[in-house]
Amino acid sequence: MKIAIGADHAGYYLKEALREGILADYETLDFGTYSPERTDYPFYAFAVGEAVVGGKADFGILICGTGIGMSIAVSRVPGIRAALCTNVYMAKMARAHNDANILCLGGRVIGVGLAEEIVQAFLSTSFEGGHHARRLELLDRGPQRNGG
Ligand code: RB5
Repeated sequence: MKIAIGADHAGYYLKEALREGILADYETLDFGTYSPERTDYPFYAFAVGEAVVGGKADFGILICGTGIGMSIAVSRVPGIRAALCTNVYMAKMARAHNDANILCLGGRVIGVGLAEEIVQAFLSTSFEGGHHARRLELLDRGPQRNGG
């Protein structure tokens, strides 16, 4: 399993900790940032999102201060289903019910231990399909074709 990862300055230290910890067992594509110097999160969100929809990685992990900016930015890449998770239950459901392909984390919100448990839950949970798949099809159709 190949994981694309990216962070801004506020997510840099958590990205490094995950790479050296739980992600050491996975093949990773690190799209930066490569230092704690201030930068802009959309660059990393778009790079990781495009790596996932382009098939270069199976899943993406994006980290900013809250995870909110990354989730907003990467959701603009067609084909991305991003989930901002602050606990293990959300991470499991993001995969089981939403078939999320990007996990967003807040480097200023959670610690390394919880982040590792969230990543583990996200990467080890499968999509349940069934009626959840129908909802993903509705998402792909967009509001115009759903009467919205
Ligand atoms: C950077 O200060 C911070 O705004 C950014 O990392 C992120 O939390 C935005 O959503």
